[in-house]
Amino acid sequence: MNNQMNKLKQEIFNCKRCELFKERLNPVIGEGDSNADIMFVGEAPGANEDKTGKPFCGRSGDILDELLMNSGMKRQDVYIANTVKCRPPKNRNPKEEEIKLCAVFLDSQIDIIKPKVICCLGNFSTSYVMKKYKLNDKIQGISKIHGQVFFAESSYGKIKVIPFYHPAVVVYNMNKKKVLAKDFSMLKKYIKVNGGKKC
Ligand code: URA
Repeated sequence: MNNQMNKLKQEIFNCKRCELFKERLNPVIGEGDSNADIMFVGEAPGANEDKTGKPFCGRSGDILDELLMNSGMKRQDVYIANTVKCRPPKNRNPKEEEIKLCAVFLDSQIDIIKPKVICCLGNFSTSYVMKKYKLNDKIQGISKIHGQVFFAESSYGKIKVIPFYHPAVVVYNMNKKKVLAKDFSMLKKYIKVNGGKKC
């Protein structure tokens, strides 16, 4: 698995599939436990992530860390990745074509990690992941489907897909923190206990 992950990291470093590699400082591949049952998928790196190469290390990262901690998890217990690995200039939204070209890497990460629960942070990852698992007819805006558990069949067995608001919403709207905290609290039941599987 480490070999597969290292090979994938190299591919992402060398990637020129879309134009984003031209302006980014570092691709942000993902980090955490490559054996995790729970995987978080964000949107795309911002300025801090671009500088450090680490996912969610700015203000949204602080919010994510707090949400994880309050649900009994640490970053090291889960895997955190993004739908798009390179920062879109000026933090614009990733384009459909960029998502399409880049998501092969997310697909490979999912195949390697084999998470039982995929937590989508925000509309972009929710839409990509739900389409990937043929949940198209269930897709709605994140305000409608956050916190709902969708059951899907992956190449390695049954999984759950759960959409969440993107942690960045809290930066603009503090009221969303309670909503996120409530949605995150449901993850407690999916945390591995003593190395055993709960999912
Ligand atoms: N927002 C994201 O979606 N991903 C990051 O890594 C940082 C901010």
